[in-house]
Amino acid sequence: AAPSAQLLVGNDSKDDAAVYDLGDGQAIISTTDFFMPIVDDPFDFGQIASVNAISDIYAMGGKPITALNILCYPVDMDRSPLEQILSGGYDKAKEAGVLIVGGHTLDDTEPKYGLAVTGTVKPGAQVTNAGANPGDLLVLTKPIGTGIITTAAKKGAVNPEVLKGAIDQMVTLNRSASEAMVEVGASACTDVTGFGLVGHLASMCAGSNVGAQIYLADVPVLPGAWSLVETGDSIPGGTYRNLNSVQSKARWPDLSQEARIMLCDAQTSGGLLLAVSPDRINALLQTLERYGVPTRSVIGTIVEDPEHHIAVHM
Ligand code: CO
Ligand code: CO
Ligand code: CO
Repeated sequence: AAPSAQLLVGNDSKDDAAVYDLGDGQAIISTTDFFMPIVDDPFDFGQIASVNAISDIYAMGGKPITALNILCYPVDMDRSPLEQILSGGYDKAKEAGVLIVGGHTLDDTEPKYGLAVTGTVKPGAQVTNAGANPGDLLVLTKPIGTGIITTAAKKGAVNPEVLKGAIDQMVTLNRSASEAMVEVGASACTDVTGFGLVGHLASMCAGSNVGAQIYLADVPVLPGAWSLVETGDSIPGGTYRNLNSVQSKARWPDLSQEARIMLCDAQTSGGLLLAVSPDRINALLQTLERYGVPTRSVIGTIVEDPEHHIAVHM
């Protein structure tokens, strides 16, 4: 077959990862993500970057197997943070059962770290962002607000407990959530990262040719994040860009600007956003609970809409 026939998921549908059918009953999943430190502690940063990169495999319903380190680091800077970053990344890869089999380092003025991750899935069993159907319920498995909290923390404007709450979420693998999803069966899935909740939902709606309605009151938000968004001086630049890019799709006349910002907050290592048929919702929520996923919020529904609008109600 032509390579294009073996490419089950490519770059055109804005999905989390590419899926390539090897033709022997197995498909490989490929993805990469790396970025500048979002927290001061290098070990925490390594863990977060590792969990975030591996998450795209889980979002596709796959099993991550190997990874390569990608590290940018100033050649004349103290080596001990570098070792801490790699050790944090290794720690979470190990927890995920992922072997780090190599990598590449280059000299750069600002440190950056992440992974290129390979996973496997049975061809056809991949969960894309293109399968959501009208009537499906939307489930989110981590609270949002990590962008606002880590930006505030860089300015020293956040209470340590609030930052710890955000870090605890970001270093939590989406493995259990993904395994529950695969066991029960979902129509569509993506993980909530840089484009924010509404941005990633917009990609799912476009990919699936549907619209969505969500309820602000049902969206889980990290403790401390609302008061930071209200003071207004720790909003990440990416969050404003996200807000701009969803303006034409979002229908949210009742929402305050603060609420719109929160729903667009650029996340790192966010949860899975799942679309699941109504006859499977109870099984999914029970399975998530059984697998120990503490956040399993039903935030809205998929609706028929060829223009892919997202209506947000209070
Ligand atoms: Co993703
Ligand atoms: Co990604
Ligand atoms: Co090299």
